[in-house]
Amino acid sequence: MSSISSDLKISASILAADFRNLEDHIHEAEIFGCDEFHFDVMDGNFVPEISMGPIVLKSLKNLINLPLEIHLMVDEPINHIDSFVDIGVDIITFHIEACKDPYELINKIKSKGIKVGIAKNPGTPIDRIQDFMQEVDRVLIMCVEPGFSGQKFNEKVVESIIELDSLLLSKNIRDLVDIAVDGGINSSSIKKCKEAGAQIFVSGSSIFWEGDVRSNIMSLKNSLRDES
Ligand code: DX5
Ligand code: ZN
Repeated sequence: MSSISSDLKISASILAADFRNLEDHIHEAEIFGCDEFHFDVMDGNFVPEISMGPIVLKSLKNLINLPLEIHLMVDEPINHIDSFVDIGVDIITFHIEACKDPYELINKIKSKGIKVGIAKNPGTPIDRIQDFMQEVDRVLIMCVEPGFSGQKFNEKVVESIIELDSLLLSKNIRDLVDIAVDGGINSSSIKKCKEAGAQIFVSGSSIFWEGDVRSNIMSLKNSLRDES
């Protein structure tokens, strides 16, 4: 039977879950095979929407038993680190486009014993994050303009994944830095991202919006199986 490589992980974006039913949705994502959770923080400034922040996360935290990534879509991300550190999260990902001094921010997050991710929008060249790759645990490539769940996957980002993959290889840090993708990930785009070199697949609407969570996760996972 074909298998899924152990470094490939599905991360459930809580933003797309049913907010009247969050406890059930979080529980289902866990028992039906997600590997991580992804918590989207939007400030109405860096992106048009306002989503949720530390106060909401605090009340959800004891429901979550998987690693948790905070995706900060906010201006001045450095001002928002401490409140997430206090709650206890595993990785904090910030946008290069929103950050004045990435080194200062990376050092602050690391000094708290938390992993660091750097995110880039679809139109931002890989060059822009090059200098920081050695310092982070993850690069998050946005496959849609950040701000909403349920948008269509931008095919052009596949090139960026390939470019990033070879850059990490050339710097000899391919094993140290994960490539994550976020936005428009469904059972077809997940395959293209995997083939291009991604390991972490953040998915919101494809898990929570239609049908049942169990079959939705299964169909994402089936697309990650090696054909043999
Ligand atoms: C969008 C967020 C995503 C979003 C993904 O800006 O960063 O994490 O919830 O949702 P889908 O998978 O529906 O695009
Ligand atoms: Zn996100």
